[in-house]
Amino acid sequence: MIPCEHRILFTEQEIEQRVTELAQEISRDYAGKEVVAVCILKGALVFFTDLVRRISVPVLVDYLQASSYGSGAVSSRNIVISKDITTDIRGKHVLLIDTIIDTGETMACLYKRFSEQNPASLAIVGLLDKKPRRTAEVPIAYKGFEIPDLFVVGYGMDYGEQYRNLPYIAVLDADR
Ligand code: IMP
Ligand code: MG
Repeated sequence: MIPCEHRILFTEQEIEQRVTELAQEISRDYAGKEVVAVCILKGALVFFTDLVRRISVPVLVDYLQASSYGSGAVSSRNIVISKDITTDIRGKHVLLIDTIIDTGETMACLYKRFSEQNPASLAIVGLLDKKPRRTAEVPIAYKGFEIPDLFVVGYGMDYGEQYRNLPYIAVLDADR
């Protein structure tokens, strides 16, 4: 299904170029090490597979599905993990990978949770940083693009589970 009211924000070529640059940066920074790349489902599915294929150091992959709930106030936000990783990350170099960081609440909770498992290092990778909506502090180590407060779809991201398969990133003109 193609959204009828949408405009392309990042083309396939623009995404590919930036993902390649991020992978090169990561490969340089982790030279001589092995990384555990954690895909935050479902939104990171496409970005994740593109990114890990371009990383030149050894990569172990794992998956996690989380959803946030709560009233929206920072103190009352929490996340439910419906599918957890199966890798023991103690002493490992871990990358938490998501396509978009919006309020940051999901990633902030995951970051805390993963830190408590004593990895050798922990870094967040986000293709898109929707900074104007941030309510939780998130240290994004590898960032693709900063975007304004727009609702975007494609490249793994959905609206009502639709549009994840679009190869580009588009702004959807729909009420949230
Ligand atoms: P956060 O906890 O508010 O940062 O939520 C992050 C999650 O919300 C992302 O992993 C996406 O699944 C979803 N999300 C946030 N903004 C958008 C958007 O513009 N389009 C599609 N999904 C989004
Ligand atoms: Mg969604």
